[in-house]
Amino acid sequence: MTEIENNKGQAEDLVIDKQYRLQEKSKAIEIIKRGMDIAREEIPKGRVATYIPELGKVDPHQLGIVINPLKGEKICMGDYDARFTMQSVCKVIMLIVALELCGRDEVFSNVGMEPSGEAFDSLVELDVSNSKPYNPLINSGGLALCGLLLPELSFQDILRFTRSICSDPEIVLDEVVYQSEMKTCSRNRSIAYLLQSKGILKKDVEDTLRFYTKMCSMSATADSLSNLGVILANDGVCAETGKRFMPSRTARIVKTLMLTCGMYDGSGTFAIKVGIPTKSGVGGGLLSVSDKRAGIGVFGPALDTQGNSIAGCKLLREISNDLRLNLFYDPEWNKETEEENDIIRGIRGSHVI
Ligand code: DON
Repeated sequence: MTEIENNKGQAEDLVIDKQYRLQEKSKAIEIIKRGMDIAREEIPKGRVATYIPELGKVDPHQLGIVINPLKGEKICMGDYDARFTMQSVCKVIMLIVALELCGRDEVFSNVGMEPSGEAFDSLVELDVSNSKPYNPLINSGGLALCGLLLPELSFQDILRFTRSICSDPEIVLDEVVYQSEMKTCSRNRSIAYLLQSKGILKKDVEDTLRFYTKMCSMSATADSLSNLGVILANDGVCAETGKRFMPSRTARIVKTLMLTCGMYDGSGTFAIKVGIPTKSGVGGGLLSVSDKRAGIGVFGPALDTQGNSIAGCKLLREISNDLRLNLFYDPEWNKETEEENDIIRGIRGSHVI
């Protein structure tokens, strides 16, 4: 396990805006370290994904994080540079590319914008109650997007874009994981045929499955995910180079869907407890975007029952408020308790409760 703490930056480094900056960097490192210790205790409660046999071989004890502030230096801890397959995290990339290539109208006439309340690989709601996938971040939605991108776009095009937006030239197709999933993807194959039967998937089922599964098998690190995250946090622009990767409208749609649908049937709870738009993958990756503040990449391959990194979620929960990463964080929060008490006293006094 590698551990670095990039301690060179100044206190201002952690967040973009002084209004939000209540912690010094050394304090932030302390908070993250404490969060890591607490999060590690969750690992035995989780399990690596075994429905893709190759993922079942991954060491579940790994845990790493990179906080990549919009202004300032990264903080990297634990297994921050371990490689893992993106799995569903790549649906964020599929969505960005589809919005750019096909436009908003075409994308959202083929996938919805609503949380499904079902597991990521569910067919039920698609079959029974809807004519299209509930959203682009579940498997049915990802497969539908792949159908829109083929054949104009090749996997090599996506790989090139992914390397660029993640600032990671070492991202490759993990052939072993790809082959392993292709042998066991009967659920996704069923979803693809269901999409075909509903007229959503108009491309060849096997071509679409291969394209989708290759994207899921791109190898990333917590560091590369944090690089993608900070571009989304900055509305589509790389702050270092000034390069725009997507219009701000696209970044806004992606972040909104990450908040409402990124953690599947755990999205509501995660939004309440953590409050950071996040997309998970069964490889153990979490891509989080603390808007205007930081991109965050996490790796922890032991998963909870919803297929989200169990220790990674705990870690984000532990650091979210203390580092002021919560979407709804307000510098006035500290005053809130007193105000809340006043309000409650007022309500009680008026006999409402
Ligand atoms: O399609 C699948 O089932 C996987 N390649 C990806 C699923 C996934 O990552 C769900 N996320 N937590």
